[in-house]
Amino acid sequence: MENIETRIVFAEEGIRAAASTLASGGVVGLPTETVYGLGGDALSPVACAKIFEVKERPLSDPLIVHIPEIGWLDRLAVVSDAARRLAEKFWPGPLTLVLPRREIVPDLVTAGQETVAIRRSGHPLFREVLKAFGKPVAAPSANRFGRISPTCAGHVAAELGGRIPLILDGGSCVHGIESTIALVDAAGIHILRHGPVTGEDLAGFGPVHGAVAGISAPGGLLSHYAPRTPLRIGAAIPEANFGLLAWASDGKGFPVVEFLSRKQDLREAASNLYGAMRRLDESGLDGIIAEPLPETGLGAAIMERLRKASVR
Ligand code: TXA
Ligand code: MG
Repeated sequence: MENIETRIVFAEEGIRAAASTLASGGVVGLPTETVYGLGGDALSPVACAKIFEVKERPLSDPLIVHIPEIGWLDRLAVVSDAARRLAEKFWPGPLTLVLPRREIVPDLVTAGQETVAIRRSGHPLFREVLKAFGKPVAAPSANRFGRISPTCAGHVAAELGGRIPLILDGGSCVHGIESTIALVDAAGIHILRHGPVTGEDLAGFGPVHGAVAGISAPGGLLSHYAPRTPLRIGAAIPEANFGLLAWASDGKGFPVVEFLSRKQDLREAASNLYGAMRRLDESGLDGIIAEPLPETGLGAAIMERLRKASVR
């Protein structure tokens, strides 16, 4: 891949630069409330192809389309009443809806599937970029394929520096883990990826199920979000040159410890997760032990990430 200069830009000037790069068919790193995205014009197959190339992502893995205005929803997808209620309740925000696609959506975006994943982000800078650009933006997480999602501009630079022209710096992401992905059909709501909008949050909107058989669930591949250092989920029992991703214990006896949340707050834990995994990964350890969290609310989303990170 060619080596280009990656500029980190801010605020008003950064918004303008990001929108004009998108308009000329380029790809840019953008902050959202979940994780940083690698954005490109969702209606341009060439721009979408760049996203796959830069991430080294297999073409079989579809992209999420981020819409500037709610009016775009019906132009891109066939929307049931149940799906519309979810959009009205949780958008803008960290929920992605998987819906039957319309013709206008490029095959590259959907990886040839009959559904399209759509989200409306609530991040102020992201919204400004989309408003200035005026069209939907396809944006997967701004990491190389299979690696840890970036939660600040520096992470994006570490993952994709030299490959993209621009990163819009919006500070740290509030949620720190990717959006909840829900497929809505006649049987109810199927959670394909757990995230900041929890199963409990969705329960008021219809029966909530796990992933549907046959649907290539997000990061359908088992191994994902993975540090290079082997990670396993287990009790905080020290081993030589092993680091600890701590939840409940004090980490005594470990050479390196990252605390997800000393007050055991799941929101704080989610927002710290990927940064902590990156720091442990950079500590020259032989392995990482991740203490299990309770699987209620956001804990389900965090444990889903840890399980994927633990698969080699
Ligand atoms: O929070 C997020 O969702 C972030 C920010 C940037 O918006 N984006 C993100 O995108 O996490 P990505 O590409 O890293 O993960 C999206 C997942 C992929 O694993 C993909 O398989 C799944 O969504 N996906 C996309 N379209 C789908 C579809 N039509 N049906 C089922 N899964 C789909
Ligand atoms: Mg991703």
